[in-house]
Amino acid sequence: MNRKTLLNQLKSLLESETNFITNMANTAAFLKQEHGYFWVGFYSVIKDELLLGPFQGPIACTRINKGKGVCGKTWETMDSYLVPDVDKFPGHIACNSFSRSEVVVPLVYKGKCIGVLDADSDKLDDFTAADVTYLQDVVEILINSSEIIE
Ligand code: SME
Repeated sequence: MNRKTLLNQLKSLLESETNFITNMANTAAFLKQEHGYFWVGFYSVIKDELLLGPFQGPIACTRINKGKGVCGKTWETMDSYLVPDVDKFPGHIACNSFSRSEVVVPLVYKGKCIGVLDADSDKLDDFTAADVTYLQDVVEILINSSEIIE
């Protein structure tokens, strides 16, 4: 299925619900189901840490500090990261040793990073720039469909 169709499906999936945690949960399930990512899920900014949120895949690290790992860097810089080889990313946090490449995109709401979406593959160099754009679109749909409590 093409990406545009998938994004429309996600919009339909989320349109009847506004709870942010519920929508993160179904978004993670949708991404796992449609793309078979090794691990896919969310970390939310809670106080001064990223805290593990809804995800699909193996057990993961629960707390990440700002600037640490790919997720903490994404939070700090509010940029998306495409990491073709996790072993070459300084400070990469290996929650699971099978993870070889990953994409992390920030969840930005009213100019602030409120969390990140992380997709991991067990294959090297498994993501393209088009995947980053797609996951950014996924995050935009999620934020626009949800009530964010500040
Ligand atoms: N690899 C991430 C940590 C999260 S897990 O991959 C689920 C990082 O370096 O921030």
